[in-house]
Order: sequence, then structure tokens, then C-alpha cells
Amino acid sequence: MKTMLNVALPKGRLGEKVYAMFEKAGFECPSIKENSRKLIFENEEVGVRYFWVKPSDVAIYVERGAADVGVAGKDILLEYEPDVYELLDLDIGKCRMAVAAMENFRDDTHRTLRVATKFTNIARQYYLSKGRDIDIIHLNGSIEIAPILGLSDVIVDIVETGTTLKENQLQVFETIVPISARLIANKANYKFKEEQIEKIVAEIAAQGKA
Ligand code: PRP
Repeated sequence: MKTMLNVALPKGRLGEKVYAMFEKAGFECPSIKENSRKLIFENEEVGVRYFWVKPSDVAIYVERGAADVGVAGKDILLEYEPDVYELLDLDIGKCRMAVAAMENFRDDTHRTLRVATKFTNIARQYYLSKGRDIDIIHLNGSIEIAPILGLSDVIVDIVETGTTLKENQLQVFETIVPISARLIANKANYKFKEEQIEKIVAEIAAQGKA
């Protein structure tokens, strides 16, 4: 019997794109396309098992070895710094981590800057590198509201099309880092399944160049 490769896919549109890449790379699993609420799918013939997980949880599954490989956004990797191998930039799920504020915002560097964000580690490191004093306000979503209501001066958040900012009269002030989806692997499992994993890396890297 073939060794099964356990793959954590981020649930949602990005995950479907990722599955298409794996399928093209020879790791197809037709049952995954059946509309169902199942979360685990496997194809013993090609030796692959997929599971749909919340995008922000992929790195946890991979770090702890419940998944051998997975796909996570660079935002999650920078924020949580999981101990995993980053094997490939998939060049999809592209966006940027940015500082945004109300259009009329002017920074007063003598005052502590109030920063609302889900990404507290990224924000802390960014302002530390600039030597700027900040007060972090950790929020779980709808971050754009914070400066409008005066809860914060700026936000650190993901900007993709910029529509959310625009519709809330906010604008980007600084770009912190570009973001895209990365193929990651568990460090110990990589050694045992190196051949299978490297085959996927090579096939998917070749798709990018095609
Ligand atoms: C992100 C981010 C913004 C939005 C930006 O949220 O927090 O709200 O996308 O996209 P745009 O520039 O194309 O408008 P996401 O949809 O990932 O959901 P979340 O709020 O649950 O993080």
C-alpha cells in the first residue's frame, strides 16, 4: 500500500485553486468535488488524503504533524511563526499587509500610536523596527471600523483590492509586506515523505512557469 500524504487545504476559494494545482500535479481525488459537508477526502490509489481546515489553522495542523503539507498565507506564517518548512511560493492569494487610516489622518510622532489589528505580532515587529511607540488593540475582525469610531489611529490589515478601505473612507499609508500563499511542510514528516513532497513541489513549480 502507498504511503498516504496528508494535505491540509484552506477552506474556501483559495483552497479550491490549491486543490486544482495538486490535481494537475497528479494527486487527484475526485470525491472532493462532490458537493458535501464532509471535510476529509482520500484517494488511496495515488496516496493522498485532503482535509479542509480554516485557513488560519493550516499552519497548526502542519506544525504538529497532523498534516504533512498544507497551504497557508504568508500573513499567517509571519504572525504565528510556526516551525515548518516553507517550500514554495504558489503565487496565488496575493495581497499585502498594510497600515491604513482615515483619509485625513496625520501622524503625530510625539504621541503613542494606537494600532488596531488581528496581526499583533506583525504590527509590533513593524513598529519596533521603526522605533515607534504603539498601543496595540487586538481585534478579531471588521478592523476598518476602529479608526472611524476613534478606537484607534491606524489599522494593520490585509488589503487585496482596496475596496473595503475605500468604502469606509480609509486609505493605505504604508505597505508592510506583500503576501501570497505558501506551500508548507512538517519538518519531521518531510524526511519520511520527501520523495512524494518534492514531486509535488517540482510539479507545481513547473505549472507556475507554464
Ligand atoms: C480581509 C481584510 C479586509 C479585506 C480586504 O478580510 O481584513 O477586510 O479582506 O480586502 P479588499 O482590499 O479586497 O477589500 P477577509 O475577507 O480575509 O476576512 P476577515 O475579515 O475574516 O479577515
